Amino acid sequence: MDFRNLIAAAVAAALPAPAQLPAEEIAGMLETPPNPELGDFAFPCFKLAKALRKAPPLIAADLAAAVKLPEGVEKAVTAGAYVNFTLDRAAQARAVLERIDREGSRYGGSDIGAGRNVCIDYSSVNIAKPLHIGHLPSTVIGNALYRIYNHMGYHSVGINHLGDWGTQFGKMIYAYKAWGDRETIERGGVDELVKLYVRFHQEAENDESLNEAARAWFKRIEDNDPEAMALFNWFKEITLTEVQRVFDLMGIRFDSYAGESFYNDKMDRVVDELKERGLLKLDQGAQIVDLSEYKMPPCIILRSDGATLYATRDIAAALYRKDTYDFAKCLYVVAYQQDLHFRQWFKVVELMGYDWAKDLKHVAFGMVSGTEGAFSTRKGNMVKLRDVLQAAIDKTGAIMAEKSPNLENREEVAREVGVGALVWNSLYNGRIKDVVFDWDTVLNFDGETGPYAQYTHARACSVLRKAQPEGEIDYGALTDAESRALIAALAAFPDAVAEAMEKNEPYLVSRAVMAICQTFNRFYYERRIMADEANVRNARLKLTDAARRVIAIGLDLVGLKAPERM
Ligand code: ARG
Repeated sequence: MDFRNLIAAAVAAALPAPAQLPAEEIAGMLETPPNPELGDFAFPCFKLAKALRKAPPLIAADLAAAVKLPEGVEKAVTAGAYVNFTLDRAAQARAVLERIDREGSRYGGSDIGAGRNVCIDYSSVNIAKPLHIGHLPSTVIGNALYRIYNHMGYHSVGINHLGDWGTQFGKMIYAYKAWGDRETIERGGVDELVKLYVRFHQEAENDESLNEAARAWFKRIEDNDPEAMALFNWFKEITLTEVQRVFDLMGIRFDSYAGESFYNDKMDRVVDELKERGLLKLDQGAQIVDLSEYKMPPCIILRSDGATLYATRDIAAALYRKDTYDFAKCLYVVAYQQDLHFRQWFKVVELMGYDWAKDLKHVAFGMVSGTEGAFSTRKGNMVKLRDVLQAAIDKTGAIMAEKSPNLENREEVAREVGVGALVWNSLYNGRIKDVVFDWDTVLNFDGETGPYAQYTHARACSVLRKAQPEGEIDYGALTDAESRALIAALAAFPDAVAEAMEKNEPYLVSRAVMAICQTFNRFYYERRIMADEANVRNARLKLTDAARRVIAIGLDLVGLKAPERM
């Protein structure tokens, strides 16, 4: 049994009769004290106040006096309404390091997901548009959640819900046929497609007939006309080849690219079911679901010309995903500006009678703006994702050329660290916080950054290249303050991963990794790892090895590589 369960059992045995709780529930209630000096586990007594008719601090005091300490637990003392348990230092070091050994690359994970599917809708590339800095949060948060859910025993299904439907594709075809050239586009890619789109709008200002013609082309896409489809699919291919390069660079892959157009033939079901349930209402020619009862504007299902909308497609996609993946949860990692959109159609799915509507979750994040205000394609200040990545890689390459000129795979490492800097930057604060993008912050490798974490990992690897821990470990040699702080940070990692999943907040993992890195570096500077006494040296190497392994796991969970040399 681990200490959490041992303490929970002891608390269960010591609770007075009116406040009996099962040990498993107590195990779940045990928290990590805010400061390791206070103890290793904290039991909050607030919940017991009602049953015992007593103030929580008094309950805590009684409990601390009554509880029989299990072996390896040194003391139980009260702090306000909490009983804090402190483990015997050597016993705790042993418990944590042995667990890391035992669980290996699964450390911090669990099988709570029991193999069930979680659909994660993220990144959502728009066809014929470049990936820009605004796509970064969705892409990296989604990718981190993908990894975190897998670590927790779920099976993640990554879905890139392509924006590949709408009248703009009629405009694209018109523009291509009027002014485009196959070779130029094949060479210049998405940038050339954007130019055609911009030109269309300029020309259409003076010639209304262009919009007519574009609508006609879009109609031909809807009707599956071979010429229209060939061009439409070609635009998709051009776009996807280009974004694939960015995803490869970031080590991101999707299980499905079923986008909006994929649901063309799956719309009738939505309309039919809504009709059957009497949920559709005619409103100025459009078919809508009235949501006034829920204090929301209506959800438009069909426009007056019969065209389906973004929300209709999302509903069709949710039905399809439920049928195909039988998901336990379906997450939408999309900017908070779309909050109303998701609340509306989640409600519609609920009204359709699907109880799994509760498993749909909008994982919202804040806006990315530039130092000069909002980015927009029209203003021409949109920063392309591949440009930012390249800049980060180049800067890393330059630093490394100076600091580690002899590193064999320097280019590869520069790529991993440059990308890591950018990814980490989006995963170090709560999702909902707006971010101001500026090059200086992103490319700053000091402080609590991805490169710092990667560097700490490489440092631990370098120590271990000199010597490896072996044989019996004297855990009593790891009771100094620095070792203990590092052990506490390692011990806190599994809870951080679980909470990150619970709240869909990957930054909790980044913070836990940073805590390990910071305590490791303090340990590294204050305690000579290669100590003269063999038992001390061996124990410190063991701790170094554990730190190295957990940092690598944590970096992997947030989508960063962990190079062994930098
Ligand atoms: N492509 C959309 C946009 O750029 C985002 C799609 C998000 N996913 C979804 N299932 N609605 O706004």
